[in-house]
Amino acid sequence: MDLSQDTKNILGLQLPTDPRWINLAERSLEDILTDHAFCEQKAATTCITLITRYSDKEKLVKELAPIVTEEWGHFRLVLAELHKRKLKLGKQRKDLYVNKLLEFQRKGGNWEDRFLDQLLTMALIEARSCERFKRLSEGLEDEYLRNFYRRFMESEAGHYTLFIDLAETYMDKEIVRKRWKEWLDFEADVMETMEVRGDRIH
Ligand SMILES: [Fe+2]
Ligand SMILES: [Fe+2]
Repeated sequence: MDLSQDTKNILGLQLPTDPRWINLAERSLEDILTDHAFCEQKAATTCITLITRYSDKEKLVKELAPIVTEEWGHFRLVLAELHKRKLKLGKQRKDLYVNKLLEFQRKGGNWEDRFLDQLLTMALIEARSCERFKRLSEGLEDEYLRNFYRRFMESEAGHYTLFIDLAETYMDKEIVRKRWKEWLDFEADVMETMEVRGDRIH
């Protein structure tokens, strides 16, 4: 897939990742791989939750079932990388970025609004992961790790489009587009606040 264009054009993200994030990753590979592993775990867990919650939606179940396997495969790849380097899988840390996004999800109202927000949250997390992996694949010194992250980047880009596509399958495209824009604006604010505070996010 072509990821040579500007991130904003491809993924719709309003802000690029702060380049300092790259240095952060290089300084503590154990931490970044641990964070990454739990991102993959959360992606797999959330897909399972969506399947159980919306089991009547045939296309969603059919499309997300293999993603669970894929995300868990990613978790295992990161785990293998840690072991290979004699690093340890640390504790899962509080994910400030994801927690902020969850606050923006509509909790009341009709189920369609909640459903749409759950799908768009996943699309956003996948898009942001993709963008960060792109950074790592371009910015890390270790060639092996650059390729390692390039493969993840390609895979997460496919997931981002899948969640948007699922939203458009079950809801009016205009409604999806309008809400997606609101999510992008909200995410830009979250990113700005977190980068300023220097929080580590993934
Ligand atoms: Fe993944
Ligand atoms: Fe993913």
